[in-house]
Amino acid sequence: MTNDAYIQVEALTKYFPVRKGFFKRVVGQVKAVDGVSFSMRRGETLGIVGESGCGKSTIGRTMIHLLEPTSGSVRFGGQDVGEMLRTDAKSLRRRMQIIFQDPYGSLNPRLTVKEIVGEGVKFHGLARGKKALDSYVADVLVEAGLLPEHRHRYPHEFSGGQRQRICIARAIAVRPEVIVCDEPVSALDVSIQSQVLNTLKDLQERERLTYLFITHDLSVVKFISDRVVIMYLGKMMEIAPTAAIFDNPLHPYAKALLSSIPMPDPTRKTEQVLLEGDIPSPINPPSGCRFHTRCPQAMERCSQSEPPMTDAGEGHGVACFLYGP
Ligand SMILES: Nc1ncnc2c1ncn2[C@@H]1O[C@H](COP(=O)(O)OP(=O)(O)O)[C@@H](O)[C@H]1O
Ligand SMILES: [Mg+2]
Repeated sequence: MTNDAYIQVEALTKYFPVRKGFFKRVVGQVKAVDGVSFSMRRGETLGIVGESGCGKSTIGRTMIHLLEPTSGSVRFGGQDVGEMLRTDAKSLRRRMQIIFQDPYGSLNPRLTVKEIVGEGVKFHGLARGKKALDSYVADVLVEAGLLPEHRHRYPHEFSGGQRQRICIARAIAVRPEVIVCDEPVSALDVSIQSQVLNTLKDLQERERLTYLFITHDLSVVKFISDRVVIMYLGKMMEIAPTAAIFDNPLHPYAKALLSSIPMPDPTRKTEQVLLEGDIPSPINPPSGCRFHTRCPQAMERCSQSEPPMTDAGEGHGVACFLYGP
């Protein structure tokens, strides 16, 4: 790991207390994210994939400190994000934005698009005066693939894809550097998904944005990401450039996850690996490698100790004893 990474996530952990009974006593912890480390270059898209509940959203929220990490650290442009939150929260909140899956739930139905998109612009002093704000918002809407006149309408007057574009406009309006995209197209029709993804890609190139792109959809991650992290039960199983993950997945879980999607090229025969059993609870995760209870290649040591993230060459990191140490 280099020290000059744009974003450096180090041993990030988030546990949620489980409370029971009248006195709401803490009876356990949901280990949602458990010691996750990665770095990001400026302008890249890092995809986070994995099944529902594996901790993807929690990584996104703790990375930008919308949720306080239980432990671990995030450095952004050489500064500690927790520290930035204490000393300059306003600038941190402007520089790191988030877009959610459900565009309707995150838009206030009583506000016009102009009020929604203009709020952050005003707060951060990016346009002064009514006229300036009005044309600023109109320009941002066009950047997000909407029309200037849309600024006078309310969220319910738009389709799902357009609503997500309002959320995109709100995020980019404050000129952020990093956007956590948490399943931004998962709620949209497949025909609309690629249009919204293309807009996100165009914006990234123009503004040199850095994306942490969370999705459970492998075709989406393949399209948008430069590198991919594969998560299982709060742990990173594998990280690699996108092509390497899809052509040559190493971790048994990555192989299983990838073999479950139909490949566009039918001449390439991948053996389908079917996983047995359910995903264990993140409150009481399995010992050793969390995947060992379902792994077709599990060895004795896999239940006893946890495989560290190992460099498998060509940017490929894998946490599995089959590849060392
Ligand atoms: N606020 C919360 N309180 C308690 N448990 C939570 C909370 N948020 C998430 N979790 C739990 O943490 C785990 C990871 O959740 P999440 O990060 O939302 O996963 P994903 O986005 O991959 O579906 C799940 O078991 C989920 O139930
Ligand atoms: Mg999620």
